[in-house]
Amino acid sequence: MLVIKNASELLTLRGGPRRKERMRDLSIIQKGAVAVEGETIAAVGKSSRIDCAGEVIDAEGKVVMPGFVDPHTHLIFDGTREEEFQMKIEGKPYMEIMKAGGGIYYTVDKTRKATKEELKKRAVKTLTRMLQYGTTTIEAKSGYGLDLETEVKSLECIGEIEHCVERIPTYLVHAVPKGYSGDYTQYVIENILPHAAPLAEFVDVFCEEGVFSFAQTREIVEAARHHGLRPRLHVDEFSSGGAELAADLKCLSADHLENTTEAGIQTLAESQTAAILLPGTPFVLNGKYPDARRMIEAGALVGLATDFNPNCMTESMQFMISLACIKMRMTPAEAIAAATVNAAYSVGREDIGSLEVGTQADIIVLDIPNYKHMGYHFGINLVDMVVKKGKVVYER
Ligand code: NIG
Ligand code: FE
Repeated sequence: MLVIKNASELLTLRGGPRRKERMRDLSIIQKGAVAVEGETIAAVGKSSRIDCAGEVIDAEGKVVMPGFVDPHTHLIFDGTREEEFQMKIEGKPYMEIMKAGGGIYYTVDKTRKATKEELKKRAVKTLTRMLQYGTTTIEAKSGYGLDLETEVKSLECIGEIEHCVERIPTYLVHAVPKGYSGDYTQYVIENILPHAAPLAEFVDVFCEEGVFSFAQTREIVEAARHHGLRPRLHVDEFSSGGAELAADLKCLSADHLENTTEAGIQTLAESQTAAILLPGTPFVLNGKYPDARRMIEAGALVGLATDFNPNCMTESMQFMISLACIKMRMTPAEAIAAATVNAAYSVGREDIGSLEVGTQADIIVLDIPNYKHMGYHFGINLVDMVVKKGKVVYER
C-alpha cells in the first residue's frame, strides 16, 4: 500500500469527462489523501479518514492530481527541423515549406533511413521528458513513413519501447509521398491498412486543403473501421469544414480546430467527438489559436495536447496549460480538466485522468499550494513526483 497524504488540494476530477461549467469543477478535497493498492486507487478522501498503512508520502503544501494525458503526439520520427525553425521566424509559411519538399517530407526521408533502434532511442528521450513534466499516458502516432515498411516499423516501435509512459498507438495517414503518381488513398487502403491495423488502436488523417480531401479522408476512415480502428482526425488547421466531417464520422476526437467555423463548433458541441486543442502549434507558427471560449460555451468536450512533433518540439503539458490560459482564455481549472479527464475520454480510456476508487494509480505531486498556480506560474516544471501504475517512477 502507498499513501500520499496531507495534500493542500487533491484534485480528483471524479465523475467522468466535463463540458461547459463543469470544466471548472475539479472535485477538490482539501487536506486530501489517496491510497494505492497494486496498480489501482483503493481510497480517496480526507487525510484524517484514510488508513495510512505502508509507504506514506507527505504532500503537505502541495497539489496532488492525476497524471496528464497527452492525447496527440507524433512520437516516432527521425529528423528534427531546427533549420526550418529559422525559416519560419523569417516569415516562410508552414505549408510553403512543406510544398517545397521540406517540413513533413524532410522528416519522412530521415525516418525511412533510420533503424528501429535509432527511432526508439530518440522516442525514449521524449518519453522521459514527458514523464518528468507529469505526463503518464500519451497517444502516439506513426505517420513519417508514408510507405508500408516505415509505417509498420514506426508502429512496431511504439509497441516495443520499454518505458513507463503508456502509449496508445495511432496509424496516421499524414501526406502523399513526394513524387507519388498513383492513387495514394487506394494504396493506403489496400496495402498499408491491413498491416497497420493490428499494431494500432486508432487511425488519423491529416485532412487539409492540399493534403487529404474530405472525400479521401472519409474513404480511409471507413476502410479503417472495417479493420477495427477507431478514428480521430487532424482538421481545420488551415481550412474549415473538417470538424463537421469528424463529428459525422463519429470520430473520438477532432484535433487542431484553429479555423473551425461557428457551425463546426455547434456540430462538435452536439456530438460525442472531443475537441482537442493544440496551442503549441499556433505558438510556434505565430498563427491563430482555436476559439476555446466559444467551444466551451457551446458545450464541446474540450481537451488539450502538445502535438509533440518536429514542428512543435515540446513535451510539456504544463506549458500547454499556460498557453490555454493566456492565449485561449481558458481558466486554470478548465485547462486542467482538458489535460486530464477530457483528454482521457478522447483516447477511449475511462480508467485514467481522474483519481477515484478503481482508476489506475497515475498520480502527480506538484510543488504549488493550490491549482490556480497552474498556467499562472509558467515556463518551469512544477512536478515534484510522478507515480505510474502505483509505483514512484520520478522524484525531483
Ligand atoms: O499536427 N499538421 C500536420 N501534422 C503535424 C505536423 C507535422 C510536421 O510538421 O512534421 C501537426 O501539426
Ligand atoms: Fe499533429
